[in-house]
Order: sequence, then C-alpha cells, then structure tokens
Amino acid sequence: MLEEVQQIESKAVAEIQAAEDEKILEELRIRHLGRKSPLRLVMGQIGQLPAAERPASGQIAGQAQKAIQQAFDDKEMALRQAGDTGSALDVTLPGRRPLLGRAHPLAQLTDELVNVFQGMGFDIADGPEAEDEYHNFDALNTPDDHPARDSHDTFYLEDTGLLRTQTSTVQIRVMEKTPPPIRIISPGRCYRKETVDATHHFAFHQIEGLYVDRGVSFADLKGTIEAMGRQVLGEDTKVRFRPHFFPFTEPSVEYDFTCSICHGENATCSICKGTGWIEIAGAGMVDPAVFENVGYDPEEFTGCAFGMGLERIAMIRHGIDDIRLFLENDLRFTRQF
Ligand code: DAH
Repeated sequence: MLEEVQQIESKAVAEIQAAEDEKILEELRIRHLGRKSPLRLVMGQIGQLPAAERPASGQIAGQAQKAIQQAFDDKEMALRQAGDTGSALDVTLPGRRPLLGRAHPLAQLTDELVNVFQGMGFDIADGPEAEDEYHNFDALNTPDDHPARDSHDTFYLEDTGLLRTQTSTVQIRVMEKTPPPIRIISPGRCYRKETVDATHHFAFHQIEGLYVDRGVSFADLKGTIEAMGRQVLGEDTKVRFRPHFFPFTEPSVEYDFTCSICHGENATCSICKGTGWIEIAGAGMVDPAVFENVGYDPEEFTGCAFGMGLERIAMIRHGIDDIRLFLENDLRFTRQF
C-alpha cells in the first residue's frame, strides 16, 4: 500500500505543479483531493486492513493528502502572483486616472453665443441638415436661375433633397410654423461643395439669427450685433457695417468687428491684416419677398436677420490657422481648449 500511495502522491503533485491556469488547477483539485480521488479510494480500504496495520497506513495516507494539498496551495499562490487569475489585486498600485472629457471648441463657442443671445431674449430653433431646395434657396428668394446659388454648390441627395448650405433655412421653417413676433437663433452644421484647404471645408457651422416684429429697424440689428461683439470679443469692440448683397435681405450688409488681437495697432497682424477690422458675417433687413413666401404681411411686420460662421470666430479667438483641425477629432488639438 505504501508504494501505491507514493505513486498516487507523486503523480498528483507533478500534475498540479504543471497546471497552466486556475481552471486546470481546479480540475486537478477535484481529481486528486475530491471524494472520488484515488487517494480517497485507498483511504476507504484502510478499514479492511488488519487492525495492526491501520494506524501506520492511515498516517501514510494522511501525509500524502497533506503533500497534495500543499502542492495545490503553492500552485494556486504562484498562479495568482503571475496575475493569471484576474482576482489578483495589488492595492498598493497607483489608481488609473479616468479620462476627463470636455466640450469641443466649437461646442464651447456655440454655448457661449447661445448664452449671449438668450440674454437678449432669443429662443433656440433647430432645422434639418438634410433639406429641400425650397427651404435652402427658393423660399429665401433665391430662385433656380439666381447667380447667388453658384457660391452655394452642395451635395445633392438621391431624392430631391440636399445638404443645407446655410442655417438661413431655419428662418423659413420657423416662420412657416409660428406667427410673429419671432426672436430666434439657430446654431447648426452646414455643407458646401468646397475643395478642402486651410480655410475651406465641406462641413462647417453657423449661427443664424432672426428677429421679426412690428417696427423692427436696422438700429435693432446694429444693437444686437454690437452687444454680441462686446460680450464675445471684449467691451471695447466696435462694429462696422459694409453694404453687401444677400437675396433674402434688403438692405444687406457684412459686418466687421475691431480686431481683438492687435486693436488696429499692428500693420502685420495675421488676423486683421493690419486693417484693424475682422470680417465676421452677413446680415440685413428681411426682404419683403421672404415674408410673402411664409405668409407674413410685409406691410405690418419688419425683421432683421444675421448669420455667422463659427469656425471663423473660433479661429480668430484661438489663433487657429487650419479649419480642418475642427473636424479631425485629434485629441492633441481638442484637448487644448
Ligand atoms: N446665410 C448667409 C451665408 O451663409 C449668411 C447670412 C447673411 C445670414 C445675411 C443671414 C443674413 O441671416 O441676413 O452666407
């Protein structure tokens, strides 16, 4: 019996020591230490031995059991330390710092502008990026053959739709659904068929504004734009309006802010090119033809509207020289804001 027990023990210990992972080790534990293990079978027979042999045999079997258990314990510890078990936990290691997210620079600017306009009583309106020609062009007084469509070439969808080239579409969508007075802004993404370079992208962002009521005048437009400039670029910011053309406003203007970088004092300023003015966007008094398209009476109501490109403002603000950075989602860029 001694020999049999020794054989059982050395086989079990060898197998346990060779176990590659915890699962195998557990199988070996059941096989060599479980109720049906060879050692237990031998132990079960001890009772049938002559009484004189029983104590010694019991001792031998007990020692073998201990040795196998020890081999098992040692191996279990070794596997844990090798980190193979998943339950190994070293509480002395420094913790992993969670990645903290933050808003994209354009989202931050949007939030800020939304705040400024909400402070002046504007609501936020939304419209679809996949639009139809009517809302993107016709209703904005830009019929099929209008030359202003040339600068707004875009991506046409398989049905009659297109990707909107401007957030001015939301002016129409809001006026179609809501009677005046109206005071809304609408931030959102726009698309144009541009060749992508440092200052052009086929996808970009605008904020549109529309204010319609009885007696709205150019002075309201001026005051609104000026208040925005002061809050976003600084209290001493001034605005200037230059005549321009947009099909859906009459008169139309482009507006510039004084250069917040050099204040007109640096002839080689890369932002204002030494002029002291930075061009921001377009605006004007809503063309009566647009009111007619949405069923407003142009004799009773007047309105002003404005639109601006967000990338341009963010680039000026942060000194960013390549518009492509906004859409590349490179954390080395976005983490800086
Ligand atoms: N939608 C124009 C553009 O993308 C910008 C614009 C000009 C918006 C005049 C307006 C406006 O609301 O009144 O070029």
